[in-house]
Amino acid sequence: MIRPAAGADLVALGVLWERYRLEANDTRFVDQASWGHWVLPRISAGDVRVGTTDRTINSYVAWQRALDTGRGQGRVLRILELYVHPDGRGKRLGSGLLARAIDAARQRECRAVALVSNIADPGVLALVEPFGFVLAGDALVLALQRE
Ligand SMILES: CC(C)(COP(=O)(O)OP(=O)(O)OC[C@H]1O[C@@H](n2cnc3c(N)ncnc32)[C@H](O)[C@@H]1OP(=O)(O)O)[C@@H](O)C(=O)NCCC(=O)NCCS
Repeated sequence: MIRPAAGADLVALGVLWERYRLEANDTRFVDQASWGHWVLPRISAGDVRVGTTDRTINSYVAWQRALDTGRGQGRVLRILELYVHPDGRGKRLGSGLLARAIDAARQRECRAVALVSNIADPGVLALVEPFGFVLAGDALVLALQRE
């Protein structure tokens, strides 16, 4: 099951984040406390989804919208963290979480979705390519059609 994250999920998410940052070699935050300062406003903004199996949180995605600094004006939804605990992999949680991020980008009229973390990971590439993501600089990018 996939649902929006709540503040009460912070402890369980922090445990997952510790695994994520080691596996994805993400050095943006030095410890759980500083990550918590970043993620709590994201949870409040509706920018975090959690995946559960038997009511246990074993996966999550966190994104944020950024202003496009390039020529084509428009917003880009940046997926900063996408992680499925090794025990929960292969059950379509990763693709479900990714689909939620793409839905959010469409609803918020973003012109693209960019996955920016651990893009060289073969599992990540295999997950996102069927959605239409292509490598563009230091991100995997999905361009969205304007309605
Ligand atoms: C990549 C990741 C999110 C995939 O999660 P998942 O729940 O196992 O993925 P899904 O079950 O939705 O897989 C969907 C498809 O992606 C592909 N895929 C996923 N992981 C794969 C892997 N390790 N190798 C090859 N293909 C893979 C498969 O084609 C799969 O389809 P299938 O089930 O029909 O075979 C998960 O392995 C993970 O968290 N990896 C490490 C985290 C990381 O580096 N994150 C960085 C990005 S921010």
